[in-house]
Amino acid sequence: MRPTYKIIFGYILISSVLVKAFEPITTTIVAGAGAAAAAAAGRKIYNYFYESCDSKWIDFNSTGLEVDLNRKLFGQHIVSRVVLKAITGFMKNKNPKKPLVLSLHGGTGTGKNFVSQLIAKNLYKKGTDSGFFHQFVATAHFPHQSQIENYKSQLQHWIKGNITNCPQSMFIFDEMDKMQPGLIDSIKPYLDYYEKLDGVSYRQAIFIFLSNSGGENIVEVALDFWKAGKDREEIELKDLEMALSLSVFNNKNSGFWHTSLIDKNLVDFFVPFLPLEYKHLVQCGMAEMAAQGLKPNHTLVDQVVRDMTYFPKSEKIFSVKGCKTISSKLDFYREHA
Ligand SMILES: Nc1ncnc2c1ncn2[C@@H]1O[C@H](COP(=O)(O)OP(=O)(O)OP(=O)(O)O)[C@@H](O)[C@H]1O
Ligand SMILES: [Mg+2]
Repeated sequence: MRPTYKIIFGYILISSVLVKAFEPITTTIVAGAGAAAAAAAGRKIYNYFYESCDSKWIDFNSTGLEVDLNRKLFGQHIVSRVVLKAITGFMKNKNPKKPLVLSLHGGTGTGKNFVSQLIAKNLYKKGTDSGFFHQFVATAHFPHQSQIENYKSQLQHWIKGNITNCPQSMFIFDEMDKMQPGLIDSIKPYLDYYEKLDGVSYRQAIFIFLSNSGGENIVEVALDFWKAGKDREEIELKDLEMALSLSVFNNKNSGFWHTSLIDKNLVDFFVPFLPLEYKHLVQCGMAEMAAQGLKPNHTLVDQVVRDMTYFPKSEKIFSVKGCKTISSKLDFYREHA
């Protein structure tokens, strides 16, 4: 077992033990006091310090997500639409037949992690700090090919443990393209249409896969639209979805290679992130300044964004790094202004 993994695994066990251990103690103390009001107060204090798997801590805010996607996510009209529809539909369904599985694809710095953070923020009161939000990073948690069998069983135990603790858990699998082929198949039963597996229902969980694979196909489509003089907003999900799922399935380096997750249709939505343009980078820069509590400075942002690298070489339309590195570059330019 890798150290990082051990820490995460240990943390979950500790947090679930804590929750279980702490609950009866609070109840005993409060029952001893004998007053309903005191019981409510005790519960309040307990919830204040410790997150629990209930509507006080897990309360999906559909309007909040819509506003965040519209105001904070730039240049991703397909993502905004698909993610809002997928998450809202799933959360409204009192009896989903399977967990929600999204696969986010696109080049670096286009907003994949950012979108998963926005979802967590509008689902859990503690956002990404929630004990029910879990993130795996392929290179950090599953680095050794020789350990794949260990990783498979750890992953299964871990997911089962966390969903037993809270059915409305959210799992992010980052760097899917760097994940060893076959590993992800070990969680297939949990993503499927089973009512229960060994007494545990996985149907309320959300699984989100992030990867760069398929990014080239997305760029190709975006470039075709640009060359044809069409508006970027005219690109639709259907222009990208099929090409994306086929390319990911057939790409040996995608982590999804020939996975049964795809041929069994267990991924509900493939979400394509478009490459970002100059104007989106400006929006990112202005938003970053506002987030840092700084007075928006368009001249400075423009300077930073102009110095970023764009492709294809001749047209220079799309940012090579998306909005990534803008915040650190802003710091640098401010220091040296
Ligand atoms: N479309 C976007 N709209 C607004 N901000 C964005 C967008 N894309 C990226 N950003 C900003 O850039 C930062 C880095 O983006 P993010 O980590 O989401 O990229 P990514 O798609 O996960 O990239 P990678 O493939 O390299 O992991 C975000 O925290 C956010 O501040
Ligand atoms: Mg990322």
